[in-house]
Amino acid sequence: MNQEKDAAFVKFKGIEKRYGEVVAVKKMDLEIPEGSLVTLLGPSGCGKTTLLRMLAGLEEPTQGDIYIKGKRINDTPIHKRNLGIIFQNYALFPHKTIFDNVAFGLKYRSASKAIMKEKVEKALEMVRLPGVGDRKPSQLSGGQQQRIALARAIVIEPDVLLMDEPLSALDENLREDMRREIDNLQQDLGVTTIFVTHDQREALSMSDKVVVMKDGFIQQQGTPEEVYNNSVNHFVADFLGHSNFINAIVEEKKGDYLSVILEDNRPCLAIPAGAYEKGDKVEMVIRAQKLILGYKADYVPDQEMNVFFGKIMDRSYMGGEVSYFVELNNKLVMHAINFVKRSPYRRGDEVFMKVVPANCRVLKV
Ligand SMILES: Nc1ncnc2c1ncn2[C@@H]1O[C@H](COP(=O)(O)OP(=O)(O)OP(=O)(O)O)[C@@H](O)[C@H]1O
Ligand SMILES: [Mg+2]
Repeated sequence: MNQEKDAAFVKFKGIEKRYGEVVAVKKMDLEIPEGSLVTLLGPSGCGKTTLLRMLAGLEEPTQGDIYIKGKRINDTPIHKRNLGIIFQNYALFPHKTIFDNVAFGLKYRSASKAIMKEKVEKALEMVRLPGVGDRKPSQLSGGQQQRIALARAIVIEPDVLLMDEPLSALDENLREDMRREIDNLQQDLGVTTIFVTHDQREALSMSDKVVVMKDGFIQQQGTPEEVYNNSVNHFVADFLGHSNFINAIVEEKKGDYLSVILEDNRPCLAIPAGAYEKGDKVEMVIRAQKLILGYKADYVPDQEMNVFFGKIMDRSYMGGEVSYFVELNNKLVMHAINFVKRSPYRRGDEVFMKVVPANCRVLKV
């Protein structure tokens, strides 16, 4: 397909959903580019499922419009929206064969028997389960059943694939396999996909675009790198990984950096996210993975680095990495994660933690 991709293949405009007093989704504007995989990421209750259900036609918006391919679909009945849907609790029909489960959506599109057979077989091949058509769902593993649900969703060649936490019932290893499989399948088919999750690693690893939501609002949207490295506020920085937040006051601009005074009166350099003036109260954010530990006794002063001294309060081994909680002299506790190879430190050790200013970001409070 050489045609120009539609940047607003799916479009929500001023969409809102109220349940009595509860506003599940608040005046939301969102555009999903054609052929992309977009994740809706956010904590429980932030409105992810509600947004998906409105697109699917299972819920009516209180306000606003929804468009697919430029056409307003608010009044289009569910079966005419041409969507493939996989919900977490949207189980297969237990008494039907796998073939009939996958063929389900086609029956309502009055496909001929021969075409139906061809399409079902192709869909089963795409999810790498050819030849299971005669079995019943109970004769497949959990991961295989979820692949059948995927086959059932793609067999109708949907305009948009909607997945609401499709992997949450699977164990961690299987989740990772399925994540990769969905990612590959989505790219092979080029189908526009909206994937709901509250797992940040899942969102970062598979998305073209991540939409971070909280309380029915979009907090930030962008590529995984953008939302992770340039989080626009405390919530996003906190939700997308292990972040340290340190209160500070703005001193002055120094080249590309901002000089700030930390709560223990020490100066520090950081990247400003936005415009600031002297005296502004801010928060400095540092990811736990960016703090490099060393023994205090080995510390060599380095003008290029921001440095913190403290004592290790807690150490936990996490496989490839070690997670530390380090208490500074002013009682502030910071979280650092270092590779095992560089992690001989034990509880009670006096350490320094250094970080380049480029990995310290200043946010408004
Ligand atoms: N049918 C309903 N009636 C009343 N309130 C509802 C209904 N459905 C959802 N809500 C409320 O709307 C808000 C958003 O719910 P939603 O299911 O969209 O959240 P979510 O982001 O999918 O959460 P989770 O990660 O737990 O699935 C919640 O406060 C929820 O209690
Ligand atoms: Mg939900």
